Amino acid sequence: MISSRSQSRVSLSRRRFLGGVAVGAATAATARTTRADSALSEVRIGILGAGGKGSQLASYVDKTPGAKVVMVADPDIGRARKTADLYQAKAVKDLRHVLESPDVDAVVIATCDHWHCLAAIWAIEAGKDVYVEKPLGHNQWEGRQVVNAATKHQRIVQLGTQQRSDAIQSQIRDFLHNEKGLGEIQYVQANRLGLRGPIGKRPSPLAFPSNVDRELWFGPAAIEPIYRNQLHYDWHWDWNTGTGEMGNWGVHIIDDVRNVAYQDAIDLPDRITVAGGRVGWNDAGQTPNVHFALLETKTFPTMITLSNLPTQPGKKGAWDITSTPTPGEWPENAPGSGYVIVCEGGYYLGQRGSGRAVDKTGNVIRQFHDDANIIAVHMQNFVDAVRSRDAGALNAPIENGHFSTGWCNLANVAFRAGGEFSRDDLEPETTVAPWNRLVANTLGCLREFGGNPESLRSCPTLHHDVATERFVGENAARANQFLRREYRRGYEIPMMS
Ligand SMILES: NC(=O)c1ccc[n+]([C@@H]2O[C@H](COP(=O)([O-])OP(=O)(O)OC[C@H]3O[C@@H](n4cnc5c(N)ncnc54)[C@H](O)[C@@H]3O)[C@@H](O)[C@H]2O)c1
Repeated sequence: MISSRSQSRVSLSRRRFLGGVAVGAATAATARTTRADSALSEVRIGILGAGGKGSQLASYVDKTPGAKVVMVADPDIGRARKTADLYQAKAVKDLRHVLESPDVDAVVIATCDHWHCLAAIWAIEAGKDVYVEKPLGHNQWEGRQVVNAATKHQRIVQLGTQQRSDAIQSQIRDFLHNEKGLGEIQYVQANRLGLRGPIGKRPSPLAFPSNVDRELWFGPAAIEPIYRNQLHYDWHWDWNTGTGEMGNWGVHIIDDVRNVAYQDAIDLPDRITVAGGRVGWNDAGQTPNVHFALLETKTFPTMITLSNLPTQPGKKGAWDITSTPTPGEWPENAPGSGYVIVCEGGYYLGQRGSGRAVDKTGNVIRQFHDDANIIAVHMQNFVDAVRSRDAGALNAPIENGHFSTGWCNLANVAFRAGGEFSRDDLEPETTVAPWNRLVANTLGCLREFGGNPESLRSCPTLHHDVATERFVGENAARANQFLRREYRRGYEIPMMS
């Protein structure tokens, strides 16, 4: 049993949190060993961010044995109240009220991407355990600070990559690596080929909704005028607050690839070649709606292709593109949101909750499927780890999540550091035959949208030092600028060592 519910868990001063400007490494209070460090009969959770995902996760917390929603924070106080009322929880607009509360043991962070790391570090410093949504870092440097903070303060920190809690992943790894069911792996093609539309382009800035606290909503990001039609959700497509489709769906799929194909033995890629663009949409978004990357590692490479475009302007179907070394070799129905592991003896086609192994003649030789609700399993895994104080029991431990996010952050850096499209940029030093086919096929799809590679950007191969998490060699200085952002005063991420 818990000795005292009202026991204060943190020694952070009110000024430090609610004054807003006094937060930083130098003033950081040390998380204390408190209630959460003895076995908890019930984990009291604060939800930070009550949009689509935060409200969904609140419902999962509510259904998780041993957990309870006690507070909900959102600068859109209407959203906070709507979710809080469902669980008789307290609604606040400033997440610092949650962090200073002695009645909260852990937080679920489902804010916009630009807030993930600062909220996580503040929570860790306040002695809370953390379930933080993907992508971990809006930039790669800040993700590393979260990892360091979790280690320093010995908190339980899980990334919201729920597919890590899918039981089929270990069966697939077993089949591919122990049984060698398809022979040696040659390369991976990851895809997110899913339709989206433009987000509007207003002639004058969006009037910030009066029910949303602008200062808190922007937090660490620059306060900038918004020219898209809506504040919520479409922040994904603005670099100031989002990470594009690469940081959105890309993280899920790359995380699967790292897990299943590389068995987590590869932290980050060491060579990155990319192109992409925001094609065919005259809107206020900045992130690419077509983005393709060759990510080379010490072992086999991975290619990832993201497209939000239809096959032709005005049509409904999403792209179906291939990277086969030989035309016609690709198995039918490759997942549009998933990956193909190309092996000597056939293909493994994976997506959420299912997958199949196909030999070179097209016969399905093994199928994998699980009906479990992986969000529920993932939340239960977090709550169990909080109660047992065993970070080693987490299915998506935070450093692993930092690496999976990192592949995507690096692909975004290469896009942003690149320049006018040049086909020559896409000639990697090593010959990767399927990459050439992927480039040709992608440019072919784009022809339907005016056929002009001029609307794309590309970046010559960037070299990345996995040990220091910095770019090295040619173009490194430019690329390294994008590994970290400028933080607004009062919302700086402290350097954690
Ligand atoms: N794991 C998954 O499958 C999955 C699925 C969807 C979304 N997500 C992630 O969840 C996050 C939220 O996505 P969404 O679709 O709910 O977006 P959303 O725009 O609907 O919600 C984000 C919410 O965060 C709030 N917010 C902004 N600043 C805040 C602050 N300082 N404190 C508290 N709340 C703040 C916003 O007001 C908004 O209500 C994203 O990072 C996204 O990548 C993960």
